[in-house]
Amino acid sequence: MSLVEKAIRKLQESAPRGVAPGQAPLSRADVPAPPPPPTTNIPVLSIDRGALRAAGLLPPEPEERQLAQQYRLIKRPLIANAFGRGAAQVPNGHLIVVTSAMSGEGKTFTSLNLAFSLAVERDLHVLLVDADVAKPHISRLLGVANSEGLLDALRDPNLDMESLIRPSDVANLSVLPAGMPSRDATELLASQRMQQVAAALGERDRRRVVLFDSPPLLQTTESHVLTQAAGQVVVVVRAETTPQPVLLDALKLLAGHTAVSMVLNQSMKSATSDYYYYGYGDDRST
Ligand SMILES: Nc1ncnc2c1ncn2[C@@H]1O[C@H](COP(=O)(O)OP(=O)(O)OP(=O)(O)O)[C@@H](O)[C@H]1O
Ligand SMILES: [Mg+2]
Repeated sequence: MSLVEKAIRKLQESAPRGVAPGQAPLSRADVPAPPPPPTTNIPVLSIDRGALRAAGLLPPEPEERQLAQQYRLIKRPLIANAFGRGAAQVPNGHLIVVTSAMSGEGKTFTSLNLAFSLAVERDLHVLLVDADVAKPHISRLLGVANSEGLLDALRDPNLDMESLIRPSDVANLSVLPAGMPSRDATELLASQRMQQVAAALGERDRRRVVLFDSPPLLQTTESHVLTQAAGQVVVVVRAETTPQPVLLDALKLLAGHTAVSMVLNQSMKSATSDYYYYGYGDDRST
């Protein structure tokens, strides 16, 4: 039995199921849409795929199709859980945290590629949130490291968070930068206010999926708080690197969470490069 299979079994033993059979939850599509956001003059973020590729966060062009196919498999159950399509809807399933046990396992890679893949879906909108405030990799790569964002929304409850969200030139994709750094950044992210902010981000638009690139579970406390605010958690596991006890420790922190999925990153090597992917495990039987 592989490391991930063992971990999944452990999860199945410890985690309760999300929605009891017979409890038909309201689909998010059934919830009346709030008024459309006001038109603003927020500059559109230009996403430079070449720069992301050069930074190692997108695959080389010849391998894009294969990776896109793998992400299709990864996103389907996440969408089903978020919107109740063909599956029981997970409460707050549209709030998805991407995390890992340790640093460097591919959280940012997974968040970005998953965001692009979800944005292809016509009827949903992806809000990618840079919630790794200690290493705001996404904000830096997209050139918004000095823009207001999540930290500012956490700091000031009177701030209109929607005005901090940057629409992008990729259809259906917008970005909330990490925000202006401060000494209390970690405490802000770990505060109860984070739950309110996460909920508010998800409430604005019923088509919205909020994807959080987050810090590692075992090396920070704030990541754990973030997972409590989210309906779904994606744990990135780096193949042949993450030691099993470390992964199991991380999963213990998620015990009782409704929907935890695992992505086995870099499990296959391509013939032409180091890029590869993917295994997928889900603790739900749906
Ligand atoms: N599937 C993949 N194929 C090729 N390279 C990858 C893959 N996933 C991650 N990497 C590379 O591994 C490195 C770490 O990835 P990434 O930055 O996504 O990890 P992380 O978990 O976000 O790290 P941190 O905890 O430091 O934020 C990056 O250089 C990235 O290019
Ligand atoms: Mg990262």
